[in-house]
Amino acid sequence: DNYGSVERDGLKIKAAPGTGDDEDEQDIIEFNPLYTYPMFGEQEQIFGYKDLVINLEFASGSLTSCFSMGYKDKKPTADKIYTTMKDFLPHDIIDNHDLFTQIAQRDYNEFRPMGTKVAEYRIAREGAENSVFEFYQATFETPRFLEYHKRLQCFAIFFIEGASFIEDTDNKWEIRLLFERVSENGQETYNFVGYCTMYPYYYYPEHIRMRISQFLILPPYQQQGHGSRLYQLLYNDFCSRKDVLEMTVEDPNDEFSDLRDKNDVRHLTVQGVFKDIRAPITNETILKVAKEHKLTKRQASRCFEMALLRNLD
Ligand code: ACO
Repeated sequence: DNYGSVERDGLKIKAAPGTGDDEDEQDIIEFNPLYTYPMFGEQEQIFGYKDLVINLEFASGSLTSCFSMGYKDKKPTADKIYTTMKDFLPHDIIDNHDLFTQIAQRDYNEFRPMGTKVAEYRIAREGAENSVFEFYQATFETPRFLEYHKRLQCFAIFFIEGASFIEDTDNKWEIRLLFERVSENGQETYNFVGYCTMYPYYYYPEHIRMRISQFLILPPYQQQGHGSRLYQLLYNDFCSRKDVLEMTVEDPNDEFSDLRDKNDVRHLTVQGVFKDIRAPITNETILKVAKEHKLTKRQASRCFEMALLRNLD
C-alpha cells in the first residue's frame, strides 16, 4: 500500500550554525544518521506513514536541538515516533521551531566550549581560512560538560555501530572535544566537530590501560584529517603520561582500524623502529616495541606486518 516503511534517509540531522537568517539555507548543513536500529529495530523501518521526514536540528556549537516531523498521510496504527526516539535524543530537545531559532541565534553568539583547551591547529582547505580547530579536555565534573554530553551522546548512537550511552555518573571517564572556532567580522563562534571518550582501566600493579571507547568526527568534517589529529593528540598524551602504560580500543570498526594503523605505522617509522627490519620479527622485538610505544602486542605486530609489506613494495 501507499503507507510503506521509511528508511533512515527520511531522518535528517541538520546542524544549523544559527545566523538567525532562516532563509539562508547555505548556513544549514544536512546529513543522515548511519544507524537507527537501536530505535527502530533491525530493519530500521518506521511503519504507517506516507512520505515521512523526521528532522533533528542542532545549533552547531551548543547543540541545542529541535525535533520535528512531517508526512503526507498516516495510518491509525502508525508507529509512535517521538516516543520511540525520546530515550535516545537530547534530554532538553524542544519541538517549538520558533523557540529553537531564537535559542540557536543566542547560542551562536554566546556559546563557548567547556573544559581545558589543550591544543589547536589550522587546516589548509578552501573555506577554512577563518577557522582554528581547538581540542578541549573534560570529565563529567567539568562545569557544563555533563549537560553538553547529554546533548551530544545521540551522535554516538547514530554514527557508531553498537554504541550505547556511557555511565555519566562515573567521573573516571576522560573526554576530548574538538571544536571549530570561526573568526568573522570581529566575532568568534564555535562549531562542534567531534569527540572521544576514554576509560582508564587498572593495569597491574599501579598503572592504567587507557581504552578508547567512542571516537567520532561528525560527517561534515570527515575526510579532512581531523580524525587523525584527534588520534595523534590522544596518543601523544598517553605517551607523555607516566600513569598510562597501554592504549587499547573498544570494538574498533574498519575505518577506525585504518586510521589507527596509518597513524601508528607513521609514528613508529618516525621513531626509527622499522629501520633495517627483516622477516621474521621475533616475539621479543614485538613485545619490546609494544611496551616502549604503549601499544597492545597485537597492534605492534600489525604495524610490523604493514611495515614489512611496505618494504616489499
Ligand atoms: N582531504 C581529503 N582527505 C583527507 C584529508 C584531506 N585534507 N586529510 C585526510 N584525508 C583522508 C585520510 O587520508 C583518510 O583517507 P584514507 O583512509 O583513504 O587514507 C581519510 O581522510 C580519513 O582520515 P581522517 O580525515 O583523519 O579521518 P576522519 O576525520 O574522517 O575520521 C572516523 C575517521 C573517526 C572513522 C570518522 O569517519 C567517523 O567519526 N566515522 C563515524 C563514527 C565511527 O565510525 N567512529 C569509529 C568507531 S570505532 C570507536 O569508536 C572506537
